[in-house]
Amino acid sequence: MSTDTTTLPVGRYAYDQVDRTFLSQRVAQFREQVARRVAGDLSEDEFKPLRLMNGLYLQLHAYMLRVAVPYGMMGSDQMRALAHIARTYDRDYGHFTTRQNMQFNWIRLEDTPDILELLARVDMHAIQTSGNCIRNVTCDEFAGAAADELLDPRIHAEILRQWSTLHPEFSFLPRKFKIAISGSPHDRVAARFHDIGLVARPGPQGRPVFDVFVGGGLGRTPIIGVKLRDNLPEEDLVAYLEAIVRVYNAYGRRDNMYKARIKILVQALGVEAFREKVDAEFALMNRADYRLDPAIVAGIRARFGIPPLEAPADADRTLAAARRTDPAFDRWVRTNTHPHRHEGFICAVISVKPDGGIPGDITADQMDLVADLADSHSFGEIRVTHMQNVVLGHVRKDQLHELWQKLVAARLATPNIGLVGDIIACPGLDYCALANARSIPIAQKLSARFANPELQERIGPLNINISGCINACGHHHAGHIGILGVDKRGQEFFQLTLGGSAGGDVAIGQILGPALPEDETVDAIARLIDTYLVLRHDNEQFLDTYRRLGAASFKDAVYAPA
Ligand code: HEM
Ligand code: SF4
Repeated sequence: MSTDTTTLPVGRYAYDQVDRTFLSQRVAQFREQVARRVAGDLSEDEFKPLRLMNGLYLQLHAYMLRVAVPYGMMGSDQMRALAHIARTYDRDYGHFTTRQNMQFNWIRLEDTPDILELLARVDMHAIQTSGNCIRNVTCDEFAGAAADELLDPRIHAEILRQWSTLHPEFSFLPRKFKIAISGSPHDRVAARFHDIGLVARPGPQGRPVFDVFVGGGLGRTPIIGVKLRDNLPEEDLVAYLEAIVRVYNAYGRRDNMYKARIKILVQALGVEAFREKVDAEFALMNRADYRLDPAIVAGIRARFGIPPLEAPADADRTLAAARRTDPAFDRWVRTNTHPHRHEGFICAVISVKPDGGIPGDITADQMDLVADLADSHSFGEIRVTHMQNVVLGHVRKDQLHELWQKLVAARLATPNIGLVGDIIACPGLDYCALANARSIPIAQKLSARFANPELQERIGPLNINISGCINACGHHHAGHIGILGVDKRGQEFFQLTLGGSAGGDVAIGQILGPALPEDETVDAIARLIDTYLVLRHDNEQFLDTYRRLGAASFKDAVYAPA
């Protein structure tokens, strides 16, 4: 095993020959399964579980392939492979999701083995991006780079990836199972909206400890996860998670898919009884078998390439000078960057949400450009965010202006991160077989309406989240303003929720009133935002104004005819 981290790809875990052999065997198996389906030897019903094991869905118009980006980290070579796939096998674009994956919407079944082979060549796959198993573990988009980070969550995310991938006991859970891990005191992973949310920090002697939240989720029954354990020691991480998933596997309902998630089990048993069952399981386990020895953790850590961070002493001054002379750049630095832990560096957020655009959609050319920029400005490393954007984690401050100019030319520099233009939207009725309404056009109209960057900054932090149905893939319950598509006698209507939040001040949005017809929704939201601007105290954020005043004033604005 190589421990020379300078030759490894930066940011992500480097595969070894065992991983590569496993992937190529998996591709060969699937190639055969597809051939049998194409030849008619397998019916669609027989083929379905086989394709879902490789992230292949059958949607409204075509097959959709969901590619895993483990905890959102990838390299420029991997991004170029995605660009090539978009160009060769799709319609020249891909879609970043809130679960740090990439989806291709227009895939031909016959092409999927070749696509998976291309992915395998760059150490990527689509395993466990679908089905009733432990899905792609998500993590903080600034992991290993953020100034406010207490502990790098990628190492444990990778350990959990290895533990959960094709885990024989957890391949047929009652439903899908999602784990997120944060190593920052500012929860950037919505830990309490996951089946298991982990918040990591250094404990005694600097050894990692974890707060464990369980039973959160969105969907038709949105629930905020409860704390199951404080200060779980690192060595027990795998054992304790195994105990939780075992209890869920044994007691989770299988008779009704809507009640099959762990959140329903935790609610039904109550957190105390659930904890007792987990503790009992934990006590029975042979903990030595599961013990996460510091040497194992060190071995995993050693397979992550570390960027050689060296910046000139005047990097800060160079950046400050560029900001003074270029107001548009200055605005973008304000909205689209995050403090880096290392002097002279900064994290840059590339907005994949141009004004009037489709949130998360990125063209093949843009993917190639991002890959080139990652090579020239971030040690070849790229991150996908749970807000459907992209991050270059380690940009030298004196080179930020040049990076921004290149992004501007590619329509990738919209200064809207965390603002009203940074809308989350699921694919909705444009693609999704489960949808009631189209999410994308509402997102596009809102984003075009609020395109003015000065207005966006004046409005301040505001998350608008849109889902095309109750499954809540667009996190509408967690939006400060949530928009949910509903079907009323064949017409598209939209229900508004207010006051949701995914961060540390986690909350589920409250329904404001009756759903609105499609053609009234955007105007109603514009009135709602205008009302907030009138009612806010100095610089008060939307969420605080809403919490201070409650729904009544906003209801008037939305439902009173103009
Ligand atoms: C078009 C294909 C998609 C299908 C068929 C689909 C299906 C579903 C279903 C059935 C659920 C409800 C699960 C449950 O409560 O048990 C769900 C939830 C969810 N999906 Fe999707 N989805 C799709 C695309 C997406 C996309 C594009 C994203 C990200 C933008 C996404 C992210 C999520 C999230 C975050 C949840 C909530 C999970 C929770 O409650 O824990 N999905 N999806
Ligand atoms: S929320 Fe509904 S419409 Fe949107 S992607 Fe999920 S299942 Fe499809």
